[in-house]
Amino acid sequence: MKAIGIVCSPRKDGNSEVLVREVLIAAGDDAAKVLRPNEMKIRGCQGCYACKEKGSCVVKDDMQVLYREIEEADVVVFGTPIYMYGVASQFKVVLDRLFAFLGPAPDFKSSLPKGKRAVLVVSQGYEDAQEYGAHIAQMKESLRVVGFDEVKTLVAPGLNELGEAAKRSSLVEKARTLGRDLCSA
Ligand SMILES: Cc1cc2nc3c(=O)[nH]c(=O)nc-3n(C[C@H](O)[C@H](O)[C@H](O)COP(=O)(O)O)c2cc1C
Repeated sequence: MKAIGIVCSPRKDGNSEVLVREVLIAAGDDAAKVLRPNEMKIRGCQGCYACKEKGSCVVKDDMQVLYREIEEADVVVFGTPIYMYGVASQFKVVLDRLFAFLGPAPDFKSSLPKGKRAVLVVSQGYEDAQEYGAHIAQMKESLRVVGFDEVKTLVAPGLNELGEAAKRSSLVEKARTLGRDLCSA
């Protein structure tokens, strides 16, 4: 099983990254590649719809690296903090660009091979894990629509300091359980 991480926090070793890495390690891949869109040059979707005719995105930036990595992975573990009541813009930019995996209307059929799975790890400062539940459910559904057959989520509330997730044993255990489930399924 090939797993990769896509950590959308601008903070290196931040809470979302800590938990994404725990998922990957428990999934049996401590050498898994972790990509950090914040350090890459990725433009927002240009809305040109060229992908619907050509079958791929015509914007030649670092998103092409992510397209290749996602195509080759069985499991993609996304991480994002909540910024201003929603996912971080770095995550949303990547998500919008995944539109390129969808074929033309009216079917918008995904070109990703069947069987891919995703995990969405969301870290937030607010203590109530349900606070952004409706928004996170929409992000999860978007990942399913672009072609991930199964999307699991881990919401990690009450985290503010850099990397403090590592000291929250219940969250670390949840991340490890998700990782173990990925390799046993
Ligand atoms: C610009 C900004 C906006 C934020 N907005 C929210 C918010 O709306 N709700 C919330 O619960 N936490 C908010 N936070 C806190 C982060 O979600 C939290 O610190 C998270 O654990 C950071 O994850 P990271 O360490 O992976 O970057 C915000 C943080 C920043 C820097």
